[in-house]
Amino acid sequence: MTFSLPMTRRGVLAGGAALAASLTRPATARAATPSILRAVPSTAQLAPDGYPATPVWSYATDGAGIVPGPELRVKAGDRITRRLVNDLPQSTAVHWHGIRIDNAMDGAAPLTQAPVPPGKTFDYDFVAPDPGTYWYHSHDRGYEQVARGLAGPLIVEDRTPWLGEDGAATREMTLVLDDWLLNADAALVENFDSLHAASHAGRLGNTVTVNGTAYPDLPLRPGERVRLRLINTATARVMPISFGGLRARLIALDGHPVAPRAVDTVLLGPAQRADVVIDAASAQDARGSLLLDPGNGGAVEVAGFPNQGDPMAGTQDDVRPLPAWGNLPTPDLADPQRETLLMEGGAMRGFSEATYDGETLGFRELASRGMVWAFNGIAHGMDAPMFRAPRGRTVHLSMTNRTAFAHAIHLHGHHFRIESKTATAETHGDIRDTALVGPDETLEVAFVADNPGRWMIHCHMLEHQQSGMMGWFDVA
Ligand code: C2O
Ligand code: CU
Repeated sequence: MTFSLPMTRRGVLAGGAALAASLTRPATARAATPSILRAVPSTAQLAPDGYPATPVWSYATDGAGIVPGPELRVKAGDRITRRLVNDLPQSTAVHWHGIRIDNAMDGAAPLTQAPVPPGKTFDYDFVAPDPGTYWYHSHDRGYEQVARGLAGPLIVEDRTPWLGEDGAATREMTLVLDDWLLNADAALVENFDSLHAASHAGRLGNTVTVNGTAYPDLPLRPGERVRLRLINTATARVMPISFGGLRARLIALDGHPVAPRAVDTVLLGPAQRADVVIDAASAQDARGSLLLDPGNGGAVEVAGFPNQGDPMAGTQDDVRPLPAWGNLPTPDLADPQRETLLMEGGAMRGFSEATYDGETLGFRELASRGMVWAFNGIAHGMDAPMFRAPRGRTVHLSMTNRTAFAHAIHLHGHHFRIESKTATAETHGDIRDTALVGPDETLEVAFVADNPGRWMIHCHMLEHQQSGMMGWFDVA
């Protein structure tokens, strides 16, 4: 294994009820023939020029597969119909991350559908109810398939116009941030099953791409205000993103609007999204930067914004908020159903015992079966739900991390509100579908369980998910 690819221009990363109606009501007529979403091997120029192209797995709508997958774009309330065609050598399934979707279309194989074998197809057909920045990715052997490239952006546009209005942006850019572990020939290091990586912070890469390109330049036009739709599709890397030479205001998290707030750094855990409005603040011909702190206190420029004209004058006090969703039920905390999620395991801490596949075993025995993490004392708990909630009930979920690592906990089919006031990575009152929980931290969230079906809850560090950090809850 090699980590010696000298891959950056400017530094090297360290190795290291009303709703229910809107969900089910066809907003537009069913298309006669669904468009294709093909999962297929291809190659991509991920490493900087001069290195060979990388063999990847990719999505294609027409033509060759690309990394990230093609941007799918609809308006809120519109129907998405896609026929997944599996041209991979493994079974696969597509999950539409963050969409409050019909359970049967959630793509969480094998919980909500059978995996789609090589050569076979599956028709996805669902309504995307809420505007925002989302993504789609493989949900079958995700720790391998997403690491090989099976992820793409899914943008749901507002029905109320925002772009071009007073104080809004004049242009938007979708920026898919990914982290690849490449060898000196720019091929993927195929250590997807590494238990060492799985029991630590996950399989971290050594090359960060923005829209599949290492360290691109994204020129800003004179006086321009741009909405960045940032998506972290890495399987493991938490990305602290800052904005050199730019003013930045956060306007949405995981698709859901927030009251615009100035930010120096946006912390993006795996699967998290942030919409940020930037104004060029530096002089003409100066350069803005998207900077990533790889954890050593330094910063790597993962994309540059050459400023091609006069900077924006003034402050960002006038940034226009995004239109509210309006249809997300508010949790009723008077008498919620209280649930807990205890995270244990991993390197340094482990656990004395946990249950896997009906057997209660010690840490070493479980590790020999590839399990190093547990939720509520159960590793890979797919046999029975973690909890059941009657439809419409508010669930208050208290998530305690007793491990030595951060985890990015994702709930399918729902968005939740952050209730903790002292969380280190999350902010009280924000609405998210994926939340970072730091070591020794308890994060409390609340949501209305209004979407019937079986919904996965797991760590989105996909190596952690695979090695135990997964379960599901039932809404009926
Ligand atoms: Cu983005 Cu269960 O996944
Ligand atoms: Cu984790």
